[in-house]
Amino acid sequence: MRILRSLFLLFVLYQAAVVSAQKSKATKVWQTLSGNEPLVVARGGFSGIFPDSSSDAYNLALTTSFSTVVLWCDVQLTKDEVGICYPGLNLDNSSDISTDFKHRKAYLVNGISVEGWFSVDYTFKELSNVYLTQGIYSRTGRFDGNVYPILTAENVSTQFNPSGLWLNIQHDVFFTQHNLSMRSYVLSVSKSIIVDYVSSPEVKFLSSIASQFKGTNTKLVFRFLGTNDVDPSTNQTYGSLLSNLTFIKTFASGILVPKTYIWPVNAGLYLQPPSSVVSDAHKEGLEVYASDFANDAVLSYNYSYDPIAEYLSFVDNGNFSVDGVLSDFPITPSEAIGCFSHLNKTATGQASPVVISYNGASGVYPGCTDVAYQQAVQDGADVIDCSVQMTSDGIPICLGSINLINSTTISQSQYGTLATVIPMLQETPGIFTFNLTWKEIQNLTPAISNPYSSFSLYRYPAHKNSGKLVSLDNFLAFAKPKPLSGVLISVENAAYLAEYQGLSVIDAVIDSLNKSGYNNQTLQKVMIQSTDSSVLSVFKEKTSYELVYQVDETISDALNSSIKDIKGFAHSVSITKQSIMPQNQFFLTGVVTDVVDKLHANNLSVYVSLFSNEFASQAWDFFGDPTVEINSFLNTVSIDAIITDFPGTAVSYRKNSCLNMGSKTPSYMTAVPPGGLISLISNPSYLPPAEAPSAVLNDTDVIEPPLPPVVKKSPTSGPAAAPTTTPTASGQPRRATGFFISSLLVLLSFLLF
Ligand SMILES: *[C@@H]1O[C@H](CO)[C@@H](O)[C@H](O)[C@H]1NC(C)=O
Ligand SMILES: *[C@@H]1O[C@H](CO)[C@@H](O)[C@H](O)[C@H]1NC(C)=O
Ligand SMILES: *[C@@H]1O[C@H](CO)[C@@H](O)[C@H](O)[C@H]1NC(C)=O
Ligand SMILES: *[C@@H]1O[C@H](CO)[C@@H](O)[C@H](O)[C@H]1NC(C)=O
Ligand SMILES: *[C@@H]1O[C@H](CO)[C@@H](O)[C@H](O)[C@H]1NC(C)=O
Ligand SMILES: *[C@@H]1O[C@H](CO)[C@@H](O)[C@H](O)[C@H]1NC(C)=O
Ligand SMILES: *[C@@H]1O[C@H](CO)[C@@H](O)[C@H](O)[C@H]1NC(C)=O
Ligand SMILES: *[C@@H]1O[C@H](CO)[C@@H](O)[C@H](O)[C@H]1NC(C)=O
Ligand SMILES: *[C@@H]1O[C@H](CO)[C@@H](O)[C@H](O)[C@H]1NC(C)=O
Ligand SMILES: *[C@@H]1O[C@H](CO)[C@@H](O)[C@H](O)[C@H]1NC(C)=O
Ligand SMILES: *[C@@H]1O[C@H](CO)[C@@H](O)[C@H](O)[C@H]1NC(C)=O
Ligand SMILES: *[C@@H]1O[C@H](CO)[C@@H](O)[C@H](O)[C@H]1NC(C)=O
Repeated sequence: MRILRSLFLLFVLYQAAVVSAQKSKATKVWQTLSGNEPLVVARGGFSGIFPDSSSDAYNLALTTSFSTVVLWCDVQLTKDEVGICYPGLNLDNSSDISTDFKHRKAYLVNGISVEGWFSVDYTFKELSNVYLTQGIYSRTGRFDGNVYPILTAENVSTQFNPSGLWLNIQHDVFFTQHNLSMRSYVLSVSKSIIVDYVSSPEVKFLSSIASQFKGTNTKLVFRFLGTNDVDPSTNQTYGSLLSNLTFIKTFASGILVPKTYIWPVNAGLYLQPPSSVVSDAHKEGLEVYASDFANDAVLSYNYSYDPIAEYLSFVDNGNFSVDGVLSDFPITPSEAIGCFSHLNKTATGQASPVVISYNGASGVYPGCTDVAYQQAVQDGADVIDCSVQMTSDGIPICLGSINLINSTTISQSQYGTLATVIPMLQETPGIFTFNLTWKEIQNLTPAISNPYSSFSLYRYPAHKNSGKLVSLDNFLAFAKPKPLSGVLISVENAAYLAEYQGLSVIDAVIDSLNKSGYNNQTLQKVMIQSTDSSVLSVFKEKTSYELVYQVDETISDALNSSIKDIKGFAHSVSITKQSIMPQNQFFLTGVVTDVVDKLHANNLSVYVSLFSNEFASQAWDFFGDPTVEINSFLNTVSIDAIITDFPGTAVSYRKNSCLNMGSKTPSYMTAVPPGGLISLISNPSYLPPAEAPSAVLNDTDVIEPPLPPVVKKSPTSGPAAAPTTTPTASGQPRRATGFFISSLLVLLSFLLF
């Protein structure tokens, strides 16, 4: 069932946040052909979120991007010569046509037989019951029950009044074969609405209209496809057409090229040195537009999943700038151009929020290795972190997990047979740090973590086994001379290690800090983090370090009494993102919890984890853009620190030129309204099933029994001597809590949807 809905709901929702996006400072000099700021072109609107060419896609592009954003319409002609905006020739891909119509046909398209549903077989009226849907399956399908009629180019112009309209004519040869004239359509439509750009990959089509548009404000842009693809109107490959830009200039004022024409990538998805296409075209007086930008596409690994970094390499690399970018996520180029370009490279940016690394820059290098820490410092992190694990010879080392399988290639090594199940630590077999000596562990090969491999998103493969693991002593010696404000040391499994392995992780940490001179108060701040209150209580007795209580489960609230308890053993609290903005199936629910306010009211600082770059780590509401996520959190609640495996992205956020602009903040740098997106699912049967709110933090969660004494291990008893059933008492590690399981379920149901 389809539900009638207001076209303007989206507009109203965003209106409060929208301030007319003033063009960025006039003093900036751009290396575009005109010297003006590069253009942002929204392909089918904000097609990364809403069905391509739908009203909400165009609305969202206008409300979240530059005020000068150009709306792109891929024109197809109906039997009665109406120009509709639709992303492809085959109507099957992005609409529900196959459920309503039986006109399946096979036609030759550029010499290849294509089966499907074609606009040439329908009048515009016959298409009025066909609705647009999401054609790219990795994007959310939850808007597919909304009523999105197919729009004409005129509809887009009159309904949205964009500051620019771009018509792309992908197939003139095909429509000519069906006795429909794109030429007369374009000439006629440009008399009734303002058409700013007309592009086509067919030379003959553009040359046929060039003289008519000479001296007008309509720019003709020749679109290049793959270098080996053939323009059906000339039978020349695009590669060969590229070699004579003087010829292109005879009928076009610009070119639109796939982004890899400018920054080629090799088979391993690494960037190669840039080509000379932009400067060659500029020399001919041709503008250059780059296509294929999408935050959820596979970016080259060199950008570490930060889409702003990609745009900057096209518009702010010091040598050239393209004149415009064609994007499915137009908010991101708007931020890149409006707030992140031409920044003073030596500027330090604002001080807050504090940026704390997560296993170093573990988004780029194997976690907790020397290179991950070097990268975090180079990225400008304020605090680097070490998750302490113990070796069998009692050395505290830094590693993201007590299980070596997770962060090294140990399974493939001679130690692979040491895998055992220790239910108190985890249900699956592991090879634990306390089972090997530091000397043995030191020689293991680190492995980069790939938390989003189920989305085929892998972290920097060229670094996948880089670096060396470090001991806590190594870590502190590395950190000490660096311009850091602090180090964060996580201590987990202290009870298990004391009782069953005869190891005191707390004493080891305190010793190491003392030895390294970190007991000197004038040095960098030391933060001790744990999910175990009894660990923090011991540190409170013995040291004067900042104590950070980690609540790793997602909570929806915290009882005042539990906060009073926390106050007794900690100075700050680290919570998950979802404990602030709850999500349901990757949609923000519209609730912002009071947790941060409550903690702040009790003078507890609040740190939030985990901010990652991969689009799959974020709610849809953040548009696959890690900067939108960071910006939205900081502008919705006042958090004191961000914990991130990509510290470079958070630090570069702090340097952008659109901070603290108050009511002048451009729309693309205002917080997204939580729940804004889910409220636009107008067909109830497409809503994610309601979920019970997360647990409320209570005193039982917070108060742990005191740590057991360190039991000297008899030389014969290995970990196998430990009980193999889950104990109910103090040995219970808190890491294996419901959060991990429930987030897996969310992921799983997301994948199944
Ligand atoms: C639909 O079109 C998009 C590009 O517009 C393409 O990525 C996708 O694979 C197509 N889907 C199908 C089912 O053809
Ligand atoms: C688009 O314009 C046509 C006439 O040009 C009109 O019939 C149709 O209702 C419009 N569509 C929408 C969704 O406004
Ligand atoms: C196009 O028009 C020609 C001449 O009127 C006719 O022979 C041909 O069948 C038409 N083609 C199509 C696809 O309608
Ligand atoms: C391109 O090649 C095809 C097949 O060889 C031929 O039918 C067509 O006429 C050619 N078109 C042009 C413009 O040369
Ligand atoms: C390139 O195109 C121009 C303009 O059409 C033409 O005069 C010139 O001969 C062409 N050059 C080559 C090498 O084909
Ligand atoms: C991209 O990364 C690869 C691998 O680290 C490196 O070899 C290459 O030089 C980088 N490309 C650019 C343009 O920096
Ligand atoms: C810019 O040009 C200089 C000099 O040709 C070159 O060394 C540098 O690598 C170029 N940078 C980029 C991003 O192309
Ligand atoms: C860049 O920032 C540094 C440090 O704040 C300052 O000394 C320098 O003058 C700035 N340069 C420009 C061109 O503004
Ligand atoms: C650790 O590795 C195990 C397999 O040994 C895997 O099931 C688990 O998901 C990994 N945990 C993390 C946090 O990567
Ligand atoms: C390592 O684990 C194996 C198998 O459980 C055990 O036999 C051995 O004693 C352990 N070694 C140490 C140093 O804990
Ligand atoms: C603490 O560190 C400061 C600065 O490095 C140094 O001047 C001072 O002597 C140190 N104090 C002690 C007690 O080591
Ligand atoms: C405290 O919370 C836990 C987990 O959320 C729950 O199992 C327990 O029943 C709660 N205890 C009290 C006293 O509310």
